[in-house]
Amino acid sequence: MARKKIALIGGGQIGGTLAHLMAQRELGEIVLFDIAEDMPRGKVLDIIEASPIERFDVGLKGSSSFEDIRGADLAVVTAGLARKPGMSRDDLLTVNAKVITSVAENIREYAPNAFVILLTNPLDAMVTLCRKVTGFPRNRIMGMAGVLDSARFAAFIALELGVSVRDVHALVLGGHGDDMVPLVRFANVGGVPASFLLEQKYGPVKAREVMETLVTRTRQAGGEIVGLMKGSAFVSPAAAALTMAEAILLDRKRILPVCALLEGEYGVSGYFVGVPCVIGGGGIERIIELDLTPEERAMFEESVSHVKSLVDGLDL
Ligand code: APR
Repeated sequence: MARKKIALIGGGQIGGTLAHLMAQRELGEIVLFDIAEDMPRGKVLDIIEASPIERFDVGLKGSSSFEDIRGADLAVVTAGLARKPGMSRDDLLTVNAKVITSVAENIREYAPNAFVILLTNPLDAMVTLCRKVTGFPRNRIMGMAGVLDSARFAAFIALELGVSVRDVHALVLGGHGDDMVPLVRFANVGGVPASFLLEQKYGPVKAREVMETLVTRTRQAGGEIVGLMKGSAFVSPAAAALTMAEAILLDRKRILPVCALLEGEYGVSGYFVGVPCVIGGGGIERIIELDLTPEERAMFEESVSHVKSLVDGLDL
């Protein structure tokens, strides 16, 4: 039986890192595509030359011809510009809309049955555009944001409490902007509410303040890295995309927050928003509707209104 074919569209920082991570796990035959002529072939060669050392055995091809993504089972899209210091994700809208239109047309032509995971920012608008151009059903197209945002929240909780990240579960919903919605109520460490552990450490008043700083840091985490590195994060976004890809390719039925097209869920219709979903061999197999408190719902709706204004600005 042939291995699954994975097209990584965009061979920059995230695409290159993801190619290595996927190769290490032997997830399938990997094509690393980029408009840059030689770079994807160079990156693939580098990974192939690491394979005898790391002992993975997988087909890898670097390409700048869309022909090579033909028949892909999964396409992970990272093509487009990333943020520089001083830029918001929204500043990338116009330039990346052109890139995603071209990428989506080629996915529709060469890989019409693929599942698509898109990372290009501004995420919520780019995934909407990609769906519009491909016309793919909503189970087969999703954006990556919530897995990364939730991992950032979890990492900050673990650092603050001095506990293993292995035991921390955190959930972030909404759009992939600074008004995303980290859900404090659902954050826990080994099943124990994170707020309770913070209260034990600091008392109730200071615990709330500390949690608020963790929430704010989570919302601004992408920008914090851009400021420090003078470039956009790539290890954690690649790891997050890998988690989603594995859930689909290995039919894991994981519950992950992904940017999914809502058709009435959470009172939203026709927009992609980050919500918890069951991700498996059928892509988005189910959207889980949480019963949000009035405060959580207000934050969620504010985030959705930002997504709407961004998408409506695209004039689709
Ligand atoms: N088709 C294919 N690849 C393209 C196209 C195109 N039309 N236009 C640009 N690219 C390629 C670039 O040549 C570059 O190699 O996309 C790649 C982007 O790589 P980086 O600039 O390193 O950006 P990266 O950090 O990987 O982020 C990619 O994901 O998280 C988002 O904000 C991030 O929008 C950015 C995207």
